[in-house]
Amino acid sequence: MPDDIEWMKRGLEDPAIERVDLRIDIPHSARMYDFWLGGKTNFPPDRALGEAFEQAIPSIKVMARENRRFLGRAVRYLAGEAGIRQFLDIGTGIPTEGNTHEVAQTTAPDSRVVYVDNDPIVLAHARALMDSTGSGRTAYIHADLLEPEKILADPILTGTLDLDQPVGLTLVAVLMLVADHDAPWAKARVLMDALAPGSYVAITHPGADFNPTAMAAVVEAAAKGNMTLVPRTRDEVARFFGDWELVDPGVVPVMGWRPEDGEPADPAAAYYWSGVARKR
Ligand SMILES: C[S@@+](CC[C@H](N)C(=O)[O-])C[C@H]1O[C@@H](n2cnc3c(N)ncnc32)[C@H](O)[C@@H]1O
Repeated sequence: MPDDIEWMKRGLEDPAIERVDLRIDIPHSARMYDFWLGGKTNFPPDRALGEAFEQAIPSIKVMARENRRFLGRAVRYLAGEAGIRQFLDIGTGIPTEGNTHEVAQTTAPDSRVVYVDNDPIVLAHARALMDSTGSGRTAYIHADLLEPEKILADPILTGTLDLDQPVGLTLVAVLMLVADHDAPWAKARVLMDALAPGSYVAITHPGADFNPTAMAAVVEAAAKGNMTLVPRTRDEVARFFGDWELVDPGVVPVMGWRPEDGEPADPAAAYYWSGVARKR
């Protein structure tokens, strides 16, 4: 089986990918998120829209950090207590502290991780996602959540993950970037249906019902920046899990999902819903 470097080179040498323009003239969610997290992979349009969001929600940087901390807790839970050894991380983001493979392989060194993102700048940084340690492996696919069948059929995925064995699917802070008319529930379902019983899905999603006025202002700012952003209610987020069995404590504000530093004073301070569920 090819090693990580060969898989990475296949991705980076794909002529279809090399033609992609980074489009640093328009805001991108990955780069705005990087800006809120204090990273350096962002450009003036990302910072301008990121600041407009911050005007509407002054705690937006804290929210981004809390979302990221959830990713760490969820992957630790999956690789630890749940015994998962394969991960499919869709909407990876620009590599930063606590990437999925680092968290998973710290807990279980033989974990295999496939990352998927559609932002070419994430592809450009994919090398940082390929530094597996121990017996684990990581791979990266430049692809779109709107085409889940393509993701599932990609030889990089099928060469890295065994879909007959359980997988931990992470859809963390990405579904809000899919408009209702692009059928986010159906797209997530295609991925979930392809996974073996005993698989898990971890989801976070900005909530429409924490602070509707502030969220409406953010949605308006996003629309001005030509960005799709759809906060959803708790019920709408719960629908993504379908008939999978929710892990305790269910669909809760992101700060309240199995906190590791004691119960937060106000779990609803970060306007994200979160949950993890297991396929029966
Ligand atoms: C807010 S970031 C979240 C990063 C990471 N999941 C986290 O929570 O820390 C959203 C990521 O989803 C990616 N993304 C947005 N729409 C996507 C799509 N249709 N298909 C694949 N990736 C997408 C963006 O490029 C970005 O990297």
